[in-house]
Amino acid sequence: MIELPVPATLSPPSTRVRTSYLVGEQADMIDRGTSTDWLRDASLDFEAFVNERTGVRDRWGVPSELFWYTSDEYYLGSLVIRHQLTEDEGGGHIGYHVVYPWQRQGHATHMLQHALAKCKVLGLERILLTVSPDNEASLTVVRRNDGIPDGVNHEGELRFWIDITEAR
Ligand SMILES: CC(C)(COP(=O)(O)OP(=O)(O)OC[C@H]1O[C@@H](n2cnc3c(N)ncnc32)[C@H](O)[C@@H]1OP(=O)(O)O)[C@@H](O)C(=O)NCCC(=O)NCCS
Repeated sequence: MIELPVPATLSPPSTRVRTSYLVGEQADMIDRGTSTDWLRDASLDFEAFVNERTGVRDRWGVPSELFWYTSDEYYLGSLVIRHQLTEDEGGGHIGYHVVYPWQRQGHATHMLQHALAKCKVLGLERILLTVSPDNEASLTVVRRNDGIPDGVNHEGELRFWIDITEAR
């Protein structure tokens, strides 16, 4: 197993992790059997790719911010924080993935923990997460971060709330 140089943190997208990002996302797309076409443009002009994804942007009709989970030159995964819920609350406040080469090493659990601290700084008090009932890995991640079940949404996803008013 690769030993990370420093503990991973959530940071804005950066050209610093170019190679690790492209290789990690490519491996992940191949593992999921989905198209790698979008990586072509990213590999040709990574700086533009990063710039398009940096800062608070209006996505899904709400202010949202993308972070990459990195340790020095290593890119492990991505996470998005929606500063407010969409009208139908689909997708909740936080979405994330860890790329295939770095899965099953506890990174998503820690990445979500870091994201909850960021949400607290934003002034949010409770965080909604939605998870497909067959996504065992993500269900474990949410439960390990104290997610409280709250039924099923219109897309058949399980809803969980995490109270972040206590110290995190
Ligand atoms: C869900 C996901 C983020 C988990 O990332 P991860 O870094 O592997 O998660 P962790 O290592 O923190 O795993 C948490 C637990 O789930 C387990 N787990 C991980 N992958 C698993 C799998 N495919 N099946 C069953 N359990 C799994 C881990 O082993 C760990 O339990 P353990 O500590 O007892 O071994 C990752 O699989 C992923 O990116 N999936 C695709 C995108 C996605 O589903 N995003 C979440 C949408 S809600």
